[in-house]
Amino acid sequence: MTRQPIQQFAIRNPRLAAARFQTISDLRPTLAIVLGSGFHATAHALEVDAEIPYAKLPGFPRASVTGHVGKALLGTMGGTPALVLSGRAHYYEGYAMEEVTFPIRALAAFGIQAVLLTNAAGGINRRFRAGDFMALSDHINFMGVNPLRGSGAHDKSRFVDLTRAYDPDLNRLLKRAAREAGCVLRTGVYLAVSGPSYETPAEIRAFARLGADAVGMSTVPEAIVARQCGLRVAAVSCITNLAAGRSRHLLSHADVLAGAEQVKQQASRLLSNLARFYGRKNPESGTKSEE
Ligand code: HPA
Repeated sequence: MTRQPIQQFAIRNPRLAAARFQTISDLRPTLAIVLGSGFHATAHALEVDAEIPYAKLPGFPRASVTGHVGKALLGTMGGTPALVLSGRAHYYEGYAMEEVTFPIRALAAFGIQAVLLTNAAGGINRRFRAGDFMALSDHINFMGVNPLRGSGAHDKSRFVDLTRAYDPDLNRLLKRAAREAGCVLRTGVYLAVSGPSYETPAEIRAFARLGADAVGMSTVPEAIVARQCGLRVAAVSCITNLAAGRSRHLLSHADVLAGAEQVKQQASRLLSNLARFYGRKNPESGTKSEE
C-alpha cells in the first residue's frame, strides 16, 4: 500500500503575500490587527490607504463564515499606521492549521512586529457579563492540534517558548485603551476548542476547573505562530455570550453575532485607542519614505 503524503496542499511562500502589501501602499506599519467576529465594524476606524481581498493574496485562505469579510487593509488608525486583516479562516471550516496561520507568517514577512488578535468568546468566569472584553493573559490549547506540527517553517524552531505568549507591555496599553474607551476589560485565560459545535455544560464546568475564563474557536494557533515568528502578541476577546450552562439561554451563532453587534462601537474605540497608544510608544512604525 502506498503511503499518502502527509502534506496535501502546497504551502506558499509568505514573502509573496508580503510583496503584495508592499505594492499596494507606501505604508510600512509595524502593528497589525486581526479582526474576528465582533470586531469587524472596527475596520471603519481605519483611515484606509489601500485594501486587497484575501483572494488576491497568494497563500491566504478565504474566510467563509458569516460575519467574516476576508480582506486586508492598510491605513492609519488613531494616527498610527496599521495593517488590518478583516476576517480569518478557522480550523473548524476544514482548513489545515498551516492555512489558518499563513496570514501571520505573511505579516511577519512584511515587517509587522506586534499583532493584536481579536475574537468572540463565551464567558466561563462567573464574574463575566456579555458585552465585557477580556485581554488574554494566557491560553489553554484544547484544539487537539498544534500549528507548528509538521514541516511548515524550516528556518524557525518548532520548540517555541510560550511562557509569556501575551506581551505584558501591550496588555498594559490595552488596559489604558479600555479605560479611555469606557469599556469593561477583564483579564483572563482563553481556552481554545476546535468547534464548530458549542460546548456542553459539563465541558464548561471542566474548563473552569482547568483555569479557563473564556472559551472560543480561534486565536491560539495564530498566537503560537506569531510567537514562532518573533512577533509581540496581544489578544482581546469580546465576551458575546455566557458559555453553555452559564445562563438559561441556548447558544447560536446568530446570538454570538448579535452580542458582538451591541458593543461594536466600544470595540472600535478600544482598538483605535490601542493603535494610538502603540504609535506613541513605537514612533518608528511608518511609511516607506522613512525607511
Ligand atoms: N463557545 C465557543 N466559541 C465561542 C463562544 C462560545 O460560547 N462564543 C463565541 N465564540
